[in-house]
Amino acid sequence: MDEIQQQVGGVSYAPSPPEEFCGRREELEQLSAILSRAGEHGQTVMISGPPGIGKSSLLNRLAYEVQERPGGRQSPVLRAEVFDLPGMIFAAFRELLNDLRRSSASARFGSLLDAESMSEALRYADDVFEKYAAPVEPVGLLPKAGEEIVGVFARTPEVGYDRVYQAFEELLKELGRQMSMTGHVAAVLLDDVHLASSHDRRLLRDVVRDLPPGILLAFTCRTEDGAGSGYATMQEEIRELGIHEVQLTGMQRPEIRELGERRFHFSIDDAAAGLLEERAGDPFGLMACFNALRNRGLSPSRENVADVIAGADDPAGLVFAALPEPMKAWMENLCVLNPPFPVPVMACMLDLQEAGVAPATDRLLESSMFRRLPDGEYAFAHPLLQEHCRHCLSEETTVALNARAADCFERSIHRLPDRLHVLLSLAGHLFDAHEYGKAADLNLEIGLRFHHRDDHDTALLLTERAIISAEHLEDDALLAAAKRQRDLIRQRASGPLTAGR
Ligand SMILES: Nc1ncnc2c1ncn2[C@@H]1O[C@H](COP(=O)(O)OP(=O)(O)O)[C@@H](O)[C@H]1O
Ligand SMILES: [Mg+2]
Repeated sequence: MDEIQQQVGGVSYAPSPPEEFCGRREELEQLSAILSRAGEHGQTVMISGPPGIGKSSLLNRLAYEVQERPGGRQSPVLRAEVFDLPGMIFAAFRELLNDLRRSSASARFGSLLDAESMSEALRYADDVFEKYAAPVEPVGLLPKAGEEIVGVFARTPEVGYDRVYQAFEELLKELGRQMSMTGHVAAVLLDDVHLASSHDRRLLRDVVRDLPPGILLAFTCRTEDGAGSGYATMQEEIRELGIHEVQLTGMQRPEIRELGERRFHFSIDDAAAGLLEERAGDPFGLMACFNALRNRGLSPSRENVADVIAGADDPAGLVFAALPEPMKAWMENLCVLNPPFPVPVMACMLDLQEAGVAPATDRLLESSMFRRLPDGEYAFAHPLLQEHCRHCLSEETTVALNARAADCFERSIHRLPDRLHVLLSLAGHLFDAHEYGKAADLNLEIGLRFHHRDDHDTALLLTERAIISAEHLEDDALLAAAKRQRDLIRQRASGPLTAGR
């Protein structure tokens, strides 16, 4: 343990705090121009680029800029993040709602947001979201069998997509109206929409199409596709809607020098900066390189930079090479989980006793490999770290860790507030653990619920898992049922939309 503390550390791979944000002047100017028009017409901007290029950091900085403007302290900034578990039904939008509720409650925005009509719209949207998404009743039961888990899953949603959209639109209108009356702008920020399911993207698209004055909507989208099929679709939709796009590319020499100076207290000469620009120009790569130099006690000369870069295939590999074994082992254990990681599940995966949990989470944060989310859950500091970690696991270890994860979710289930996250995690872990009996039932059942909600992507993904599981089980009846369900979903997916517009 002490070893972990001594050897790791360094500057975190989480998105940059706004005070440490470097460079990107042109992009910030673009954003500021867009922001200045938001009072008159609602404005939407997509920040795009490959992983590690600095999208989330720019989003953080935008939030800061909004609040640093004259009168900006009274501008609410709502922020939410999409994670890579498919089917989390409007999770990010619900997070925005919670954020808005918190803002309304705070004295700073009190005078702006206390209108009765505002609370009314909030309550209503909340209720509609809940009715649409709530897949399970509050439960106290639940060990092992898939059927028991599914037994408490509500049937079709009580309200359709159109109601959800209307409620959210109403809420934004009301928020925009409050802002316009006082000459402020509310910023709505969504990180990583390439991970959003078709559902969430549909809501986003509909919202963008009709964004009221007084609202700036900014979202980030990853262009390189290790995860999700988002960007290609998103870009097409965006072209149709004519919204702004800020594309991020690698950092240039002056920005690299600024980053070295501000975040690592390195003074970097032109030769070293030139090499970095050429070889590791994305901020994640720079962070990996600077942390490695610092860890090894090396000065940032061109030679040392060249040495460090030559020592690893990619930046994530560079980060891992420097980690002490115990921390690596923890990361391996956690990397099969879907963020956000609930603390009880993490504790179970790491085999921690009650008293060991708080010190362990402290260590995870100190290691700079993890970050804490606003609701007290955890995630890898950057998705590239988690992806690298998953990639390095052997097939055998992957199966074993998924079995463990499924078991940990089952054990902790009564302590976890987000039923949908639990169900979807279980469905995924059981399948990846090759526990096909349970995986088939659970994935088939949940797949059907998503079909009822017209989330075809998620429904198909879950149903395909059921098909593969049935094949492994050599269960012909189950296989036929799963295939029937798949055909039904495909049919509906290719047909006209049934709800909303
Ligand atoms: N402009 C910047 N100034 C300082 N640090 C940055 C900047 N952009 C990115 N970083 C750092 O680089 C890493 C990757 O940035 P991040 O914003 O997470 O990228 P993305 O969201 O595109 O994957 C993080 O560790 C972050 O702190
Ligand atoms: Mg990001």
